Amino acid sequence: MYGLHGKIAIVTGSGRHGGLGQAMALRLGQEGCKVVIADLGRTEGDLFPTHGVATTAELEQVAAEIRATGTEVMTVHCDVRDEASVEAMVAAVVERFGGIDILVNNAGVGYLMKLVTEMTADEWDVVLDVNLRGMFLCTKHVARQLIAQQRGGRIVNISSQGGKSGFPYASAYVASKHGVIGFTRSVAIELGAHNVTVNAICPNHVTTGLGAWQNDFFSKALGLTHDEYMAAMTSRIPLGRPGLPDDIAKACAWLCSEQAGYVTGEAMNVSGGEETH
Ligand SMILES: NC(=O)c1ccc[n+]([C@@H]2O[C@H](COP(=O)([O-])OP(=O)(O)OC[C@H]3O[C@@H](n4cnc5c(N)ncnc54)[C@H](O)[C@@H]3O)[C@@H](O)[C@H]2O)c1
Repeated sequence: MYGLHGKIAIVTGSGRHGGLGQAMALRLGQEGCKVVIADLGRTEGDLFPTHGVATTAELEQVAAEIRATGTEVMTVHCDVRDEASVEAMVAAVVERFGGIDILVNNAGVGYLMKLVTEMTADEWDVVLDVNLRGMFLCTKHVARQLIAQQRGGRIVNISSQGGKSGFPYASAYVASKHGVIGFTRSVAIELGAHNVTVNAICPNHVTTGLGAWQNDFFSKALGLTHDEYMAAMTSRIPLGRPGLPDDIAKACAWLCSEQAGYVTGEAMNVSGGEETH
């Protein structure tokens, strides 16, 4: 029903266990896509701590697990901030699979939590560079391929509840995720004539590796125990629980499907009702 059989999907930042990227790649595979697990695959200096990025071993393990479900999987090391790296990823996918149909811009940095008065310019830059510049570069080069193929396509950008509301200690992240929505709206207009839809998903909290790190950080910052912090968060969510990776994966698969063919330029909350605008 989703019409995704045989489609080729790139999911950036999908090389971590328990991440949203892994969940979206898994589900797109279950819907019949060939999937590209793209991630940094290495660590680089203090601003990319090992708890924040996928190592090569983790990336290959995630790919193997998805392959074991019967999906055709390719892995690519790609630093989304680097245009040459993004171009090389697009070329490698086209060479292996013969084209591209879906891009999920999921790579993101959400672990640099600082008050604005404490944040260094380098920290600001790394968040904006991965979350926005990276999205721009991947979109630019995949969109060129989609236009050349003349068979339409789908781009799904992972924004956040932080794309619609402010959060303390997260001004760079929140600025980038608001930027994702503006980018999505503009590119949707540009690519509409090519039958390429461009939408954003705005998840609330999901306890991925990043999410667990954020829970730890915010409970300490607020002087709460982990359980008190989670109970306060849950009480704000009408559906009574934080998000799960598969909640986001289902929304992503739907946006990529034939069913969502007339939906573009949207910033869709997947937040159990916590975010409503
Ligand atoms: N977990 C949440 O609560 C939540 C909520 C809203 C939005 N999000 C967004 O969802 C996306 C995935 O988050 P997650 O929770 O799975 O976090 P995560 O940290 O597990 O995933 C982020 C991925 O991005 C990759 N990455 C970082 N820098 C990169 C670079 N330069 N090039 C390529 N890949 C790079 C990391 O290696 C990692 O695999 C992010 O964009 C995040 O901002 C997460």
